Amino acid sequence: MKYPKEYLDEIKTRLKVSTVVSKHVSLKKRGKEYVGLSPFKNEKTPSFTVNDEKEFYHCFATSEHGNIFDFIMKTQNLRFGEAVKYLANLAGMQPYMFSKKDEEREKKWKVYNSIYTHYVDFYHNQLLKNESYSIAREYLKNRSLDKDQVKKFKIGYIEKNPTLFEKLKNDYSIEDLIETGLFYLDEKKKIYIERFRGRLIFPINNISGQPIALGGRIIEKSDFLAKYINSPETPFFKKGSNLYNLDLARKLSNKLDDIYLVEGYMDVVGLSRNGIENVVANLGTSLTERQVLNLNQFYDDIIICFDGDESGYKAALRAAENSIKDLQPEKQISFLFLPDKEDPDSFVNKNGKNFFVDFSKQNKISIHQFIFSHYKKQTDNNPSSMAIFDKKLRSIANSIKDEYIKKYVLEYFLNKISELTPHISHSKRNYYAKETKSLEKTKKYFNESRSLTGVELKEFSLLYLMITNLDLIRNNIHLIENVKLFTEVNKQIFEKVILKLKLHEEISSEELEIDNQLLEKIYKFAPIKHILKNKPDNEHEIIELLDDVSRDLNNYDLEFRIQELESKFSKDLSEATFNELKELKKKQNIN
Ligand code: UTP
Ligand code: MN
Repeated sequence: MKYPKEYLDEIKTRLKVSTVVSKHVSLKKRGKEYVGLSPFKNEKTPSFTVNDEKEFYHCFATSEHGNIFDFIMKTQNLRFGEAVKYLANLAGMQPYMFSKKDEEREKKWKVYNSIYTHYVDFYHNQLLKNESYSIAREYLKNRSLDKDQVKKFKIGYIEKNPTLFEKLKNDYSIEDLIETGLFYLDEKKKIYIERFRGRLIFPINNISGQPIALGGRIIEKSDFLAKYINSPETPFFKKGSNLYNLDLARKLSNKLDDIYLVEGYMDVVGLSRNGIENVVANLGTSLTERQVLNLNQFYDDIIICFDGDESGYKAALRAAENSIKDLQPEKQISFLFLPDKEDPDSFVNKNGKNFFVDFSKQNKISIHQFIFSHYKKQTDNNPSSMAIFDKKLRSIANSIKDEYIKKYVLEYFLNKISELTPHISHSKRNYYAKETKSLEKTKKYFNESRSLTGVELKEFSLLYLMITNLDLIRNNIHLIENVKLFTEVNKQIFEKVILKLKLHEEISSEELEIDNQLLEKIYKFAPIKHILKNKPDNEHEIIELLDDVSRDLNNYDLEFRIQELESKFSKDLSEATFNELKELKKKQNIN
């Protein structure tokens, strides 16, 4: 359910960042900011800052950065919706009421949730206590699972002829019971059947830890029953969106950088038993974009570790090709291949935690390496096969949505291909060599430009337009004279250029005496140069661009003043401030 922007803004208006943060981190005022020890890192000297005016926190030690919602999500391991509820409450606001439809769904959810919780608890307790369940306990013992794991994952066992449905019928409607997917009607016999009878059950929880579906494993060999079955899709369980154990694994994301993604329930349980708890499983379906996004909310590095057999390999390839499209900067997906016939469960049980972790550090390969090596294996060293290979890799790189990652991956592919093709002509090789060289450059550019804020980039555009069109600016100085710049260095240059233009009839860009390093930076990063590149020098258009950039900067100014007033308003709640705020917002809308 999506919250309306006004509701979220209201929360932000009422709560200063420092108010929220100081509930969890002790802060000291320093100038306009607050500082404290980072909640993201163990440290002795404070590198964590909070700026109420700008409405963000920033941690210099870990580069964590964000607003109040981010802060609560990250430090309290909450989902966005939960963070909103928490903060709304702190701000003294009512929880947001969604529409009638949402309310009905909420009601349905309460029933669904209650049935599931009851069901899971009941069979979990039976497995722990019921003497007649000894075959199930024997099975667990044979697989070296003890009470700790059974409890942690709330594993249960359902007898072959269960009667729980009859009891639940007294408390819930048949329709509600059927909707959970736990039961179905046997059309011939006209009786309701428990879908997971005779199976060990693994509750699949939503991200808040409430059970919404089950996975069930048979414990006696059978030729006609599937080894595992999962709940069918229900209004509250969508296979492509959920991951087994994400509710527990997400809680470790403050301490750990990466998460293992495995195929099976038992892989999760087995790794956990050996002390590796940052692990989730994808429920026997192929990995979806949604699942990757969900994981990335908590972890930047995903290590996909499927079974060391052919089907595991195929599933990994499918996962790689699906997820490379959505690869994001600073997020990584790698693959870990286990020795033949091993799955994560068997491998970690044989070798223990340390070996598993070391093995994975040494053997994981990044997603683009995996894709490259897979297609390389399929390729003979003949022109036609190489051409198909080349084309395939280019098309995979092209499917990547993020421009930087696309460039990076494409260059990686081209570089590797050029290493494979020593027989191609010199000029071609140089071409590839040139391409690959810029890989490092791309990365550097990416890092540098990311550290610049939107305002700085706009300012660079303005300065770039000025420096490269001095005469034109002189004649139209009134257009930009009053633009407000925020960054101190840029502001100084801006004022210097304006002054020099006013004083001198003629001046060259060298005579502006701008610091070379800064000039270089402006030429390198001013986004406007990409627009100018495709256009002939046309005074009229330059004036228009100048006008656009100035207007944007003025808008930033408005935005900052609005933010200032909003934080003032949250303190004084005075009508005068409110009216001033309203005026500014009106102005902002006109611009
Ligand atoms: P595996 O067959 O690899 O099972 O299936 P496993 O995890 O090694 O289980 P154990 O060790 O034999 O108990 C991996 C996953 O694929 C799905 C399940 O989600 C399972 O956890 N699966 C498997 C099914 O959905 N149906 C099946 O019949 C088998
Ligand atoms: Mn297994």
